[in-house]
Amino acid sequence: MRQILVTSALPYANGHIHIGHLVEYLQTDIWVRFQKMQGNRCIYICADDTHGTAIMLSAQKKGVTEEEFIADMSDSHQRDFAGFGIEFDNFGSTNSKENKICCELVWKALRKKDMVVEEEIEQLFDVEKGIFLADRFIQGTCPTCKTPEQAGDGCVSCGATYSPEELLNPVSVMSGTTPELRKAVHLFVDVEKEHAFLNEWTQSGALPKESANYLKNFFLNEPLKKWDISRPAPYFGFEIPDAPGNYWFVWFDAPIGYIASTQQWCDKNGESLEDWWESEKTEIHHFIGKDIQYFHTLFWPAMLKTAGLKLPDKVHIHGFLTVDGKKMSKRDGTFINASKYLEHLDPSYLRYYYATKLSARLDDLDLNREEFAARINSDLVGKMVNLASRTAKFIADVGLSDTYPEDGGLFKEFAERGGDIAEAYEGANFAKATRMIMELADKANPFVESNAPWELRKDEDKAQQLQDVCTVALNLFRQLAIYLAPVLPELAEKCGELFGEKILTWDQAATPLVGRKINKFKHMMQRVDPKKIEAMVDESAAECAAAAAADEKPAPAGDWNDSGDTLAEDPIGDEISFDDFMNVDLRVARVIEANEVPEARKLIQLKLSLGGDETRQVFAGIKSAYEPGDLVGKLVVMVANLAPRTMKFGVSEGMIIASGPGGKDVFLLSPDDGAVPGQRVK
Ligand code: MSP
Ligand code: ZN
Repeated sequence: MRQILVTSALPYANGHIHIGHLVEYLQTDIWVRFQKMQGNRCIYICADDTHGTAIMLSAQKKGVTEEEFIADMSDSHQRDFAGFGIEFDNFGSTNSKENKICCELVWKALRKKDMVVEEEIEQLFDVEKGIFLADRFIQGTCPTCKTPEQAGDGCVSCGATYSPEELLNPVSVMSGTTPELRKAVHLFVDVEKEHAFLNEWTQSGALPKESANYLKNFFLNEPLKKWDISRPAPYFGFEIPDAPGNYWFVWFDAPIGYIASTQQWCDKNGESLEDWWESEKTEIHHFIGKDIQYFHTLFWPAMLKTAGLKLPDKVHIHGFLTVDGKKMSKRDGTFINASKYLEHLDPSYLRYYYATKLSARLDDLDLNREEFAARINSDLVGKMVNLASRTAKFIADVGLSDTYPEDGGLFKEFAERGGDIAEAYEGANFAKATRMIMELADKANPFVESNAPWELRKDEDKAQQLQDVCTVALNLFRQLAIYLAPVLPELAEKCGELFGEKILTWDQAATPLVGRKINKFKHMMQRVDPKKIEAMVDESAAECAAAAAADEKPAPAGDWNDSGDTLAEDPIGDEISFDDFMNVDLRVARVIEANEVPEARKLIQLKLSLGGDETRQVFAGIKSAYEPGDLVGKLVVMVANLAPRTMKFGVSEGMIIASGPGGKDVFLLSPDDGAVPGQRVK
């Protein structure tokens, strides 16, 4: 019997669980359930990751203490996880006394081995809020392409990366004030000291090949940078005992939370922590997303080694979720919270669908809405549940045959496949496991069809044959339900109820059940209703939009904080007369058609209505900022008396007016509500 400790990354307590997170927690839960069914001693450990500036600010914004904020979030996270059948053996918090103790132990070890160094750094400081600003709390103009409102670490417009001090006109996102550069002493962990060890450990087979190669070629090729591990007050976290006024950076105490949460489990179960974190007899498996691999494959093993703790045997790394081929988006309604999903759909659907997509690779995985519905309806309802629903009712009175009937070798074949399926689960290749199980289902169904129990039932002489056919079909169903139990615990439970014998272990699939009554067949799973998916997406979009609107509070009068740079860069032109102005005939117009111009990268072809039958064609250079589809119906302002211009693709009969430097930053001017096409703008 193996002893296995399994973790998922600790979810940030700064937000709710969404369907992206669930990729990881479902993947881990399936793997853990599989191990438990194999009879291994396996515990699933997790916790909320509760520290850092972001949580401090969220609590402030909500007007509660940090402790209240993270307590509410922990409840919410645990409710969501339970709703999806994700069963932790312990779910703790990084803000626990156990974690503080563990952090101090690791810290002492780092100090003792001289791994901690002090360095003075310069960082932007928000004077009004009295806090040093992390990159994401600073915005400014990109030093490369001059696009305004870019984040502190990189520009989305030109892709440049830089450090926040290089931004032009930096602004603190928190107060809107201009931050100043200040010096502060930070503590760093000198991971370079463990370079040789990391080189060896990362190549030892604990990581997916792709990650190991990447680390070898890029990270471990040159000296490792020191890791900045302290933050000055105010910070929500643990104060560093031998550096008062400084706190451990959230990423220091977060992974240590794995150990602290294990400690809590040990305390509840009369176990000793050494058995799990200091003993070679325990296997440690981390499941994480690819965005946090360096923390888990460089810093974390270096910390564990320094502290004399057990190193992970495997770090399983998964890719990111996309929905219909795109990044999850609040606007599209594809940023779906776990709780929102549960209001509309059966969690089993998502458990199964993700399983069919998950392998041990780091590729992103796509939730395609159409495929989702089709997969569930065809595999689970069509192939699985149907096996039982079409047969159980015919033997409700007589029960299962006394001996297992002749089935052409199906049961035996299914039992023999158990080893291969288990191997796929063990390798976290659930896509392969579910594929193999469905291949078996594809053999079970023709057996039912060709023996047509619904026909046999009409002939009293064929009662025995009917009982035998149903006995076979139900036993095959049960085998498949056992193989799918890690993915679909609820279906396994219902199957157990039908047979009056709980499904608990993998080897139950080796022996058929005979000579016993079965319970009344109860409904097992419904077909996916695409309308419910629609409703879920629509509600998500509406709720995200409402939340964004509530967030957008206008700045108080007199405190707009607009910079003078725009005008400085583009000064006001020479004076004109009123008549000069009236010569320009500006009109309100409605976009009634908008099309891409395939030959022109920057242009959109617009058909504008000036009311009645009056229309104009305008080619506008706004493609970089607008989607044609988003323009139709919009009111704009056009220069209506501009001389027509013949272009390669047609005649442009005017201009629509917009501001901004170009690129993504083009802003169409549109009249307030009430304006009608054709009205003069003056
Ligand atoms: N708090 C850190 C982890 C600390 S572990 C010591 C963190 N939290 S998180 O809430 O942002 O993410 C938790 C896990 O969910 C991470 O492993 C992350 O990769 C995963 N995912 C978050 N969004 C995801 C998708 N959209 N798709 C797939 N996995 C995603 O990181
Ligand atoms: Zn840029």
